[in-house]
Amino acid sequence: MKYPRKLSSGANNTVIVLSDTEVAKLFTEDTRSDIGSEAKKMKYANAVNGLMVKFVRLEYNDDLAAEMLVMERLKPFDFRAYEVEIRTLWYSVFEDELTALHQAGFVHRDLKRPSNIGGAAFDNILLTEQGLRLIDAGISALREEVNQKIFDKYLEIEQNEMLLFKDYFLNR
Ligand SMILES: Nc1ncnc2c1ncn2[C@@H]1O[C@H](COP(=O)(O)OP(=O)(O)O)[C@@H](O)[C@H]1O
Ligand SMILES: [Mg+2]
Repeated sequence: MKYPRKLSSGANNTVIVLSDTEVAKLFTEDTRSDIGSEAKKMKYANAVNGLMVKFVRLEYNDDLAAEMLVMERLKPFDFRAYEVEIRTLWYSVFEDELTALHQAGFVHRDLKRPSNIGGAAFDNILLTEQGLRLIDAGISALREEVNQKIFDKYLEIEQNEMLLFKDYFLNR
């Protein structure tokens, strides 16, 4: 299906532009993921701090026959235009905020995409006017919904991916 105002097709979902300030992630009949669960995890992270993109509302679009997860529109720019000293500051805020999410029981789980899946390695981390932001809570996990042991496993992987991102972001 061809969508109007398409912004991007990620690994699973198409994202379209609604306005200058809002985008919508589309969930159609053949989407194998759950919009309610993704919205819940976003809202959970939004209540902790500003790192995760802000949830706005859920909508059903009859014309597109799609459930829409409406969110804040981010306008990313390229970190390579900025000197390493500035990137280091951005990274340090990112690390603090992600650590705060972890302590609050949220783990993102998709900082780095597996190398066998197409697309850029860190395309769920966007550099914006507000610094680094996270999108895509599709496979995120809440400690209260998994359990401590599973959560800790996810955390270990995420902490490793944070270091890989640091190296990429500061040295590329
Ligand atoms: N809030 C947003 N603002 C701007 N672009 C976004 C936003 N959310 C997603 N995108 C774009 O759409 C792509 C797919 O969204 P994402 O949530 O990562 O879906 P998927 O689960 O398919 O990876 C992203 O890589 C990004 O380019
Ligand atoms: Mg994604």
